[in-house]
Amino acid sequence: MPENLIVPRHIGIIMDGNGRWAKNRGLPRTAGHIQGAKTFKKCVGYCRDMGVECVTFYAFSTENWKRPKAEVDAIMKLFSQYLDDAMKMTEENAKFVFLGDPEPLSDELKKKIRIVTDASAENKGIVCCIAINYGGRDDIVHAVRSIMNDNISADEVDEALISERLYTKNLPEVDLIIRPSGEQRLSNFLIWQAAYAEYVFMDVLWPDFSKSDLEEAVAEYSRRNRRFGGI
Ligand code: FPP
Repeated sequence: MPENLIVPRHIGIIMDGNGRWAKNRGLPRTAGHIQGAKTFKKCVGYCRDMGVECVTFYAFSTENWKRPKAEVDAIMKLFSQYLDDAMKMTEENAKFVFLGDPEPLSDELKKKIRIVTDASAENKGIVCCIAINYGGRDDIVHAVRSIMNDNISADEVDEALISERLYTKNLPEVDLIIRPSGEQRLSNFLIWQAAYAEYVFMDVLWPDFSKSDLEEAVAEYSRRNRRFGGI
């Protein structure tokens, strides 16, 4: 790893490009998701080795239900398998946090999410957040509802309170958002939390995303001048 690297505390990753990766090989889109899931597992290790405290993966958005049912079913099956692997990783001190509304997920998936969350709650290693049925706008709606349900008066509402009610409560600020696949948009990912994040867009498709791609993104982040509105 190059020297003088500033390692972000919290990286958000939009796992984009699985479908195109498969299409380029004449394979069904699900083959891209299978390969993408392998990259996802490896990437937690790359982040941990680099000293990243927290990494959040955008795995399934509130809008992704619009995809064909067969594709959604295949993705959900992969999540279920991934959660079995995550259970093993809890023994390596990784802490798993799930962002998003679990309600529409299957009972099996909800149960696995609960088990992995509880089993790793006290772990002190890398925090691996998985955004499933997550939308940035939905995150804010959910936060506002929770404030209103507590009958908190309008003049008590400030940025800190909203942050505390988001799915990301207690997580460090997002420093860097990486989106592979050439698209340059946030697609409803962490819209509140990424207000001052740096963005790195890369052409690599997610299944091909390697340790050197992560290092390249962090090197680019290290060269940025973060001013947070100051000078
Ligand atoms: C946002 O782009 C990208 C995501 C929410 C990630 C999508 C990835 C999957 C559904 C597969 C992940 C599964 C595994 C197992 C790795 P978008 O395509 O939702 O938004 P856009 O339409 O703006 O491009």
